[in-house]
Amino acid sequence: MPKPVLDTDRLRLQRFSRRDHATYDEAARKSLPELNEWLPWARLDYEHGDTIAFIRESMQAWKEERAWDYSIRFKSDPERHVGSVSLWTVSKLGKIAEFGYWVRTDEHSKGICTEAVDRLLEEAFNSLGYHKVTLRIAVGNHASDRVAEKLGFTREGILREELLIRGNWVDHTLWSLLDREFRALRRGEVRGTR
Ligand SMILES: CC(C)(COP(=O)(O)OP(=O)(O)OC[C@H]1O[C@@H](n2cnc3c(N)ncnc32)[C@H](O)[C@@H]1OP(=O)(O)O)[C@@H](O)C(=O)NCCC(=O)NCCS
Repeated sequence: MPKPVLDTDRLRLQRFSRRDHATYDEAARKSLPELNEWLPWARLDYEHGDTIAFIRESMQAWKEERAWDYSIRFKSDPERHVGSVSLWTVSKLGKIAEFGYWVRTDEHSKGICTEAVDRLLEEAFNSLGYHKVTLRIAVGNHASDRVAEKLGFTREGILREELLIRGNWVDHTLWSLLDREFRALRRGEVRGTR
């Protein structure tokens, strides 16, 4: 099981608790116009009940070891939800995990997502023993593609009509990073971006 709290220089990633309702709800609703473009759950009629359901499900999934969601916080402002990063197993046999993430719109392009995902990759490969981590990114989501590139992921190909977003079936790019690639990047053997 991953650790409930993970630190980076600037950030703290922590599992969700009931105390997070208000700050999560505010961040999600303020960011809806952008989240709605790329994430199936972020409907424009998203309401407080959806936040309550999300946090309840997140706590339950953690307990049942199905999925691990983290709230991203600045260490300097620990009560404010800045974004989410999640990890779940897609193949036990293949030791494959998938990641998902979002960052509140008013904090974009400050390196927050990259820093948070990088920390969770360390946990996935070094503590949890995954062999491969994947991302599914909607075609056209260039900010998310950029995060994958910066972290050294490889573009594997296109998954056709993978998710229904705003009533349309959207093609997604499958990106992946292997444990040995992650370790080589950490040792500085290959460039961090391609
Ligand atoms: C994708 C997302 C999580 C990135 O979060 P972030 O904290 O801004 O990410 P980072 O700052 O670590 O990196 C973003 C990179 O994309 C770049 N970028 C931002 N918008 C871009 C765009 N429209 N086209 C190309 N690059 C873009 C930034 O400049 C930055 O690259 P750089 O460091 O080389 O300058 C955020 O945009 C988001 O929440 N989007 C909506 C939800 C979403 O798409 N989630 C991912 C689903 S797969």
